[in-house]
Amino acid sequence: FELGEPGQSPCTFGDAANIFRTNIEQIYGDEPSLDGCPVAEGELDSMVTGNTFVGLQKYYEMFGPAYKLCFGPKSFIVLSDPVMIRHVLRDNAKAYDKGILAEILEPVMGKGLIPADPATWKVRRRAIVPGFHKAWLNAMIGVFGDCNNVLIGKLEDVAQRDDQIEMESHFCSVSLDIIGKAIFNYEFGSVTKESPVIQSVYSVLKETEHRSTSPIPYWELPLANQLVPRLRKFNSDLKILNTVLTDLIARAKSSEDKADLEDLQARNYDKVSDPSMLRFLVDLRGEDATDSQLRDDLMTMLIAGHETTAAVLTWALFEMAQNPEVVRKAQEEVDRVIGDRVPTLDDIKSLKYIRYMAAESLRMYPEPPLLIRRALESDELPPGSGDGHRPKITRGVDLFLAIYNLHRSEDFWENPNKFDPERFERPFQNKGVEGWAGFNPDLLEGKLYPNEIASDFAYLPFGGGQRKCVGDQFAMMESVVSLAMLTRRFEFELMIKPEEVGFYTGATIHTRNGLPMRVKKRVLPGTEQTGGGEAAKNEPVEASGSSA
Ligand code: HEM
Repeated sequence: FELGEPGQSPCTFGDAANIFRTNIEQIYGDEPSLDGCPVAEGELDSMVTGNTFVGLQKYYEMFGPAYKLCFGPKSFIVLSDPVMIRHVLRDNAKAYDKGILAEILEPVMGKGLIPADPATWKVRRRAIVPGFHKAWLNAMIGVFGDCNNVLIGKLEDVAQRDDQIEMESHFCSVSLDIIGKAIFNYEFGSVTKESPVIQSVYSVLKETEHRSTSPIPYWELPLANQLVPRLRKFNSDLKILNTVLTDLIARAKSSEDKADLEDLQARNYDKVSDPSMLRFLVDLRGEDATDSQLRDDLMTMLIAGHETTAAVLTWALFEMAQNPEVVRKAQEEVDRVIGDRVPTLDDIKSLKYIRYMAAESLRMYPEPPLLIRRALESDELPPGSGDGHRPKITRGVDLFLAIYNLHRSEDFWENPNKFDPERFERPFQNKGVEGWAGFNPDLLEGKLYPNEIASDFAYLPFGGGQRKCVGDQFAMMESVVSLAMLTRRFEFELMIKPEEVGFYTGATIHTRNGLPMRVKKRVLPGTEQTGGGEAAKNEPVEASGSSA
């Protein structure tokens, strides 16, 4: 009896029984636990009301950097320490896979990179990563600008009517339009219209998120897919999406253009009629992948690269609305660097404050707020910020890597609950965490965002180690373009109290009640003019030697 899909965790029923027995002995028999981690007991309220990360943070304060959560026969060891997490993600990454996360995501993403078993992952990662080439990212900046221009048009209407608008859903629409165009050259046009395909994307995302927070795999119960209306709807929406993706793959495969191929090979993306990732995977990597593997790759990137970026923008705007000084600094930088233009790659490098605003949004609201792993073999973790003991990991144990706890810990950040983009320019000295190098801004030279190296794994917005996000540069550039273009043109005022915005966690941190904003056109300093009188123009973008 295997836990997980074939090809995933080779952990046996015996492993699960072993873990369960030691938990019972620890909880009811006062026996020393195999792993040496305390069992977290107390209020589970926030865990079941959609605020998992708040619950995990409470336990972190009570039980320290490595504790155990038990739900009946299931248990999770929760880690909130950079040294332990560095060990799991990077130093001994071969000993861990995605465990339950892969089981939850497999019905939607198949063998896409996120849930892929190690053998498939290795082949596909090697095929996909070159697609995120600097020249392609450069070409995508134009797509970011075009899609944001549509939103800007809508916001101008709202401003003219002195009306308000819910921004979270609009950020989702822009990022959906961007990912559709970039990954498979599909025009969702979701900022301005609704369609069955758009509805299907949202419904599939919602069900996937629901599954990721459910303690039992209800979708695997006998006949559930036939009898439960929500699951029937999910399956039919998934079918709609699969049909669209399969069609796009078939079209891409049957429409190979020799001239395009040469330009693609030379990375002349500005000369190619369809510079999407699909085109790259079909034309340059075609021999590697079956149609179903390509579908899994596209679906994975669609889901991974959509709401995550929308959440960065949502929470950045939420924080800006409460921090006028941040807005002032952002406006000053945008006016000085780009004015009414869409930023180029070089501009993005110069928009340091805006880049750090996006990074700070990801620090305070990491998407996802926790990463999941399962031990494929027994292991021993380093002590890190713990009491000196080294947690022992038994084969088959599930781990939550609590990124939210890391990003909000006073052990690693000064005033962690303050939105302070300039914090990434200041060093943070280690206060005695064994084996942690502290935060060193000198290591950020030439980097687009403060990565896991400068923070020695205390800042992990895109994960770390071999399974690190492939879309990190894409997402940061997209966020910077959007924040810069909106900051130049509008002033936003939050129409409800900040505490009424609320949280709801799925795969990302959503607002509970939306982000209603009043929008005003911004009057540029020293003039009577408003920013961006007409849609921003894309300047020709030159290839640059950025770190991207
Ligand atoms: C993996 C975050 C945008 C594609 C990851 C992981 C994180 C993450 C934390 C690591 C998961 C783990 O270790 O279990 C984010 C955030 C984004 C973002 C915060 C936006 C702000 C994107 C975009 C794409 C993308 C735009 C694609 C266009 C992927 C893929 C993986 C991944 C394919 C799996 C990589 C692998 O296992 O090799 N992402 N991501 N992500 N992300 Fe992103």
